[in-house]
Amino acid sequence: MNTFEYIDGRLHCEDVDLSILGETYGTPSYVYSKKTIHENAKAYVNSFTNSDNLACFAVKSLSNLSILNIIKNSGCGFDIVSGGELNRVLSIGAEPKKVIFSGVGKTKKEIEQGINSGILSFNVESESELYRIEKVAEEIGSPAPISIRINPDIDSGGHDYITTGRKGDKFGISETRKIIDLCKHAHRAKHLKIVGLACHIGSQILDLDGFIKSADKIFELADELANFDISLEFLDLGGGLGISYEDEVPPSPFDLISCLEEKFKNRKERLILEPGRSISANAGILLTQVEYIKDNFLIVDAAMNDLLRPSLYKAHHDVCNVIDKKDNLKKWNIVGPICESSDFLAKNISLDVNEDDLIAIKNAGAYGFVMASNYNSRPKACEILIDGNESKIIRERETLDDLLEKEKIVND
Ligand code: LLP
Repeated sequence: MNTFEYIDGRLHCEDVDLSILGETYGTPSYVYSKKTIHENAKAYVNSFTNSDNLACFAVKSLSNLSILNIIKNSGCGFDIVSGGELNRVLSIGAEPKKVIFSGVGKTKKEIEQGINSGILSFNVESESELYRIEKVAEEIGSPAPISIRINPDIDSGGHDYITTGRKGDKFGISETRKIIDLCKHAHRAKHLKIVGLACHIGSQILDLDGFIKSADKIFELADELANFDISLEFLDLGGGLGISYEDEVPPSPFDLISCLEEKFKNRKERLILEPGRSISANAGILLTQVEYIKDNFLIVDAAMNDLLRPSLYKAHHDVCNVIDKKDNLKKWNIVGPICESSDFLAKNISLDVNEDDLIAIKNAGAYGFVMASNYNSRPKACEILIDGNESKIIRERETLDDLLEKEKIVND
């Protein structure tokens, strides 16, 4: 679904005219559609035919509290990777038993936080982590639920930086023998409870092959564990479903879930997924204003500190005018004010545009604001949620004072 559409030549998010929004709140601003977030989350929840199955939204893709609240109310759980993300989901009243804790570097403090809040499971990424969790659980005196994240040695395709399931990537454990031994250890251990197996092979995945292969690998392992009387509550096949940034045609959540539920039909474990981008990406745009035109450059007031994806991955984002016009189309490189040649938001984009015009960078909901920084001492943009004809600030624009708040002058 897409709720960013032109109505009478003016780009709207749901029923709100983005040119008016730009005047009201200024730019750069992230603008999200509540309806799109809700419907994208529901596309997962409603596709499950077995109500035990669960989609845990990957908080790292878009972590604003209002957005998480919409997703919680759509029936999803959460996949988190830090104490900060755990704090976010607990603060919106998410059910801990719908929270999965992934990530290769969980600190002792984060493990304590996870055990104390009663999460569904830690996805364990190494032998050392397993022993650390066991030790922390023993100190707390409460068993920790764990699942082993396997590295299935599957190349999901796409950008090297976001492919995670190949042997040699830092994620998960690849040796079958070690996985079995760790599961046997966890099964015997007083302070561990083995509840599942997990894997996540990458992001922006455009076909189902990798998911199918991952399911086969995980089934094989689960069956082997059954020989040791180890039965699992769930099998977590991660996130990664792609979206259409340009002309890609990814499978839908329904396609993914029907295919996996078919494979799970004779199994007793629940299916868990960890979708991020496919829920958040097309629900958000980055609204920015053209400051200057020079040669073929549009110099805008957003920059790589606001949206890092183009600089970091050479990712493509479509760009469009807020007030539609096509009489004088030219090819532009859209760049920000940051002092680096890598500071671009889009290249070779065809637009009819003048200084002061508002433009929208599309599909910026996932890995957009969450990857923003204050580089060049630039305050972070505000985040705005649209619900029908209403707009609400869900994160204030940072001020110049905010940027100094945590600093101290100690030298005379
Ligand atoms: N589960 C785990 C363990 C993950 O590491 C990730 C993403 C997800 C789920 C969600 O994947 P998704 O459904 O969003 O593809 N910054 C990059 C993407 C990094 C993805 C990291 N892991 C980008 O802007 O493309």
